[in-house]
Amino acid sequence: MKRTTVKEALASAGPVDPILVQGWVRTRRDSKGFSFLEVNDGSCLKGLQVIVDAALPDYAHIQRATTGASVAVTGSLVPSKGQGQKWEVVAKTLAILGEADATYPLQKKGHTLEFLREIAHLRPRSNLFGAVFRVRSRLAYAIHQFFQSRGFVYAHTPIITASDCEGAGELFRVTTLDAKAPPLREDGAVDFTQDFFKKKAFLTVSGQLEAEVFACAFSNVYTFGPTFRAENSHTSRHASEFWMIEPEIAFCDLAGDMDLAEEFVKALIRDVREHCAEDLEFFAKFVDKELLTRLDFVLERPFVRLSYTDAVDILLNSEKTFEYPISWGTNLQSEHERYLTEEHFKSPVTVYNYPKEIKPFYMRLNDDGKTVTAMDVLVPGIGEIVGGSQREERLDVLLDNMRRHGINEKDYSWYVDLRRFGTVPHAGFGLGFERMLMFVTGVGNIRDVIPFARTPGVCEF
Ligand code: 4AD
Ligand code: MG
Repeated sequence: MKRTTVKEALASAGPVDPILVQGWVRTRRDSKGFSFLEVNDGSCLKGLQVIVDAALPDYAHIQRATTGASVAVTGSLVPSKGQGQKWEVVAKTLAILGEADATYPLQKKGHTLEFLREIAHLRPRSNLFGAVFRVRSRLAYAIHQFFQSRGFVYAHTPIITASDCEGAGELFRVTTLDAKAPPLREDGAVDFTQDFFKKKAFLTVSGQLEAEVFACAFSNVYTFGPTFRAENSHTSRHASEFWMIEPEIAFCDLAGDMDLAEEFVKALIRDVREHCAEDLEFFAKFVDKELLTRLDFVLERPFVRLSYTDAVDILLNSEKTFEYPISWGTNLQSEHERYLTEEHFKSPVTVYNYPKEIKPFYMRLNDDGKTVTAMDVLVPGIGEIVGGSQREERLDVLLDNMRRHGINEKDYSWYVDLRRFGTVPHAGFGLGFERMLMFVTGVGNIRDVIPFARTPGVCEF
């Protein structure tokens, strides 16, 4: 018999006989002459109620159908007499596929998120994490749909790389050298020419530079893959391994880039609003009461756009005392970003034209000679969700920028070549996948939207 998922069963147009349902027992309630099982198989938030008559031969092993046990039930799907569900299954047979004894950690509700992180191998079976990871899956699909439907080419950029796109030096080294006795050069430094790639290699922090190569051939491209940062940030918004979506568009300037970022963020919200309605309602009930109002608010209005200089003025004129003082030329800290988006504008905000000193080498220099065409999208509750820019397409200015950042032109000759051969204005951005997921679920810690989170000091599972 073909298996019916719980989701299919609950959405059934009519009774089904016979039906086969398989899943994990969430709860069991015994009453006189019957037992009620709630069976969940992850296909949706809700479980399916199964009624097992004490007169059935298989009732002999009902005591083994404990919370966490896996079961296979055959029977018939009939309209439910009880409240809260349209359909239920009256069992004919019940098989216990795998028992779960009283040490199964998800016995009752009310575990802390910290505890659930320690059992990341079991937490997907809880309501909260079931919902989070279903939304994560849908969001990934919506991202591909957004770009594919607009003719963008999906580019696979390398995970192992020799370049440092963001220039922040937050790189994880990839090496096969003996950590205890690496080969040394005469000056005592490690001789990386004897390493696996005959040079220093790292896990990528961004696929942007390679995406630019593809944009200068296919016009509109995007990447969607894992990125890695050896950044010692212990916050609820930073992970050492996270996924990023990086569109790169040829023949596009900063304004076009900001338009695309806004359209993209809104399209993703709209998609999960429509396709993950049940899971989002769960978040709105148990995680963040304001969630749906906030998502709809974001959909309805244009994002506020303002220059970095104007943003600094607003911060300087605010009554607020910040932990990090702000002045023109310093980076916006998370507290500043959140003030702008949560308190001042109460709306998503796109800040653009940042001082060149605090931004990477690839951003296009503005005519003022002081700022570059950077832009960040900030959203309430999180702060920065998107970072992007128009790229420096002028060969001489790019070489200048590289010199200023102490970057060796030879190491990036392929990147510079794009400006030698048919250069075009182009722009792009990176959306942090997990930050977007936090935004659409209301979940407050990035560790809880990643199946197996990697953060400083933590690499379990
Ligand atoms: O602002 P970032 O560093 O920009 C880039 O990497 C550019 N190369 C993107 C581009 O223009 N193609 O990172 C982009 C986004 C951030 O806005 C944030 O959402 C997310 O990536 N992000 C992180 N998410 C989780 N953990 C971290 N440690 C993150 N660092 C950045
Ligand atoms: Mg950034």
